Amino acid sequence: MKIKKVGVIGCGLMGSGIVEVCARAGYEVVVREVSDELLQKGLGRIQQSMSKGVQKGKITQEEMEAAWKRIKGTTSLSDMAACDIAIEAAIENMAIKKSIFAELDGILPPHAILASNTSSLCVTEMASVTRRGDKVLGIHFFNPVPVMPLIEFVRTILTSDETMAIAHEFGASLGKTMVIAKDTPGFIVNRLLVPYLLDAVRIYEEGLASKEDIDTAIKLGLNHPMGPLTLLDFVGLDTTLFIADAMYEEYKDPRYAAPPLLRRMVLAGQLGRKSGKGFYNY
Ligand code: CAA
Repeated sequence: MKIKKVGVIGCGLMGSGIVEVCARAGYEVVVREVSDELLQKGLGRIQQSMSKGVQKGKITQEEMEAAWKRIKGTTSLSDMAACDIAIEAAIENMAIKKSIFAELDGILPPHAILASNTSSLCVTEMASVTRRGDKVLGIHFFNPVPVMPLIEFVRTILTSDETMAIAHEFGASLGKTMVIAKDTPGFIVNRLLVPYLLDAVRIYEEGLASKEDIDTAIKLGLNHPMGPLTLLDFVGLDTTLFIADAMYEEYKDPRYAAPPLLRRMVLAGQLGRKSGKGFYNY
């Protein structure tokens, strides 16, 4: 089976990035949002990002225009009927993801692969509401999707070798490097990243150093592109808290227990860049 047409569910931060890389790689892409307003916002984000790619010399104006023509926005999942793969990038809510998976299972052609971009939820549980468990896997991209070279594949105990092989060819065609992880909360990257981010909040909370010095220490001492508190603002404090809670729920290990300050900042609406304020102001 050769993938020609890609469906993406959700055109938020991750969904819009996934649409962009797929369209730039030559795939026809159908992207679905829940409302026209969110769809237009997501499509605007793709245009902005591709224009930045042109400015930075990563793609030509012609390539951008050709990619743009391959993207079709919709508010209806039934427009995914001719897709060879559907990648769900909706909000991190299991009930919503399961209802999307069940609906798509009835819409997609029998050969199609169904994937989730979840960073922490159980992919096997999503597969359980479909009749194509062998064709379900996690395809976890990283933010910003057009820039970050990694994809984590999440293989469940149901995913077939054939599905993994097709997914591998697809990931390579997007120019990404792939790693494979079992279906456990956090996979590889977040399993290691989340305790580190939580520890950064803990040392800030206990007054070990200023937020600027914590970030500078890691940036310059370890050559990371961003310090941990800047990265938390970039990923979203709510997203990080959600992943930490999911990991704590599964492992009951204090390493994944969210520090009180993180929970309170989320309750106060200080979510990072997306809300204009997190550890820093934007
Ligand atoms: N298409 C292609 N390339 C693009 C692009 C686009 N739309 N926009 C930017 N680029 C390229 C730029 O040309 C530049 O490339 P070179 O280095 O070859 O010049 C590179 O991307 C960086 O872009 P900028 O110069 O605009 O930005 P920057 O240097 O300030 O870097 C950053 C920004 C890439 C975000 C960097 O700070 C970084 O890597 N931060 C860490 C990001 C990270 O850790 N992400 C993972 C978060 S965890 C996650 O996502 C998973 C989860 O489940 C929570």
